[in-house]
Amino acid sequence: MSTQHIAVMTHEVIELLQPNAGGLYLDGTLGGGTHTRALLNASGPNGRVLSLDVDRKALAAAKEAFGPYGDRWVGLEENFRNMDVAAESIGFAPVDGILLDLGFSSDELVDASKGLSFKVDGPLDMRLGPKSNEDGMTAAEIVNSWPEDDIAKMLETFGEEPHSHRIAKHIVEARKAARIIGTLDLASVVTRAINRRPGDKIHPATRTFQALRIAVNDELQALKQAMVAAHKILKPEGRLAIISFHSLEDRIVKHAFNEGEWNVVTEKVVRPTDQEMEENPRSRSAKLRVAAKS
Ligand SMILES: C[S@@+](CC[C@H](N)C(=O)[O-])C[C@H]1O[C@@H](n2cnc3c(N)ncnc32)[C@H](O)[C@@H]1O
Repeated sequence: MSTQHIAVMTHEVIELLQPNAGGLYLDGTLGGGTHTRALLNASGPNGRVLSLDVDRKALAAAKEAFGPYGDRWVGLEENFRNMDVAAESIGFAPVDGILLDLGFSSDELVDASKGLSFKVDGPLDMRLGPKSNEDGMTAAEIVNSWPEDDIAKMLETFGEEPHSHRIAKHIVEARKAARIIGTLDLASVVTRAINRRPGDKIHPATRTFQALRIAVNDELQALKQAMVAAHKILKPEGRLAIISFHSLEDRIVKHAFNEGEWNVVTEKVVRPTDQEMEENPRSRSAKLRVAAKS
């Protein structure tokens, strides 16, 4: 499968999910397919894997790549928040283990048509796929129609952006002159709103883009629903592994594992090794938590 995406903590995921020959596994975030392939290989010769993704391109690429596994692999275009319904509809439940590797893939980031990057020009869309949200809302709709206070609140809640009010004000000012339609348009509005200090490590638009992506794809709500759905379809003692990339997600995972009917397997959060972080800088923010259904 030709993918630019480098999967994170594959070795740790397999060690903690402990796939067995003949088990059923659900990968809720297919992406470039590395984790799915590892699950297929570790659960051979008869284990089966159901992979979900909202991104059609990911599924199309996987259909070719996983052909050799025959009926051991099934792919569905579906939001992981509905994984219980999706798995049950094809008789793929109860399952032995589930993986969620949250966020977006490098293939999606470089796909200008998705509008996820402030480095390449594309439409301000940000939906990862048609099933990412129910109402079809795009990032362009948010920046061009939401009231200033709502934009500021969204930036604060989903981006933990300290300059939320300044950025919201500049967005509303800019859209009076012309609709903000492209990723680079928005990036330059944000850059003008924040005085970049020499030595700043991150691009000024980083938090704004993160916040919009989370809002458009309803990511935090989808994660909460996915954890409930996962519990429904896991066998007793079946494991759920979740890799998160920012504190908003990790807080939800940690809280749900501690409060719900779960036995936490990873008492301490699992982080990539120094070598992995060096080889794949994107992995630096990754956190893996695993729990078993009690
Ligand atoms: C970090 S990538 C996964 C990479 C994958 N584990 C691999 O081995 O290459 C996240 C993937 O999850 C998908 N995704 C994000 N939110 C989703 C959701 N709510 N339902 C289904 N797929 C989702 C994205 O489209 C993306 O392909």
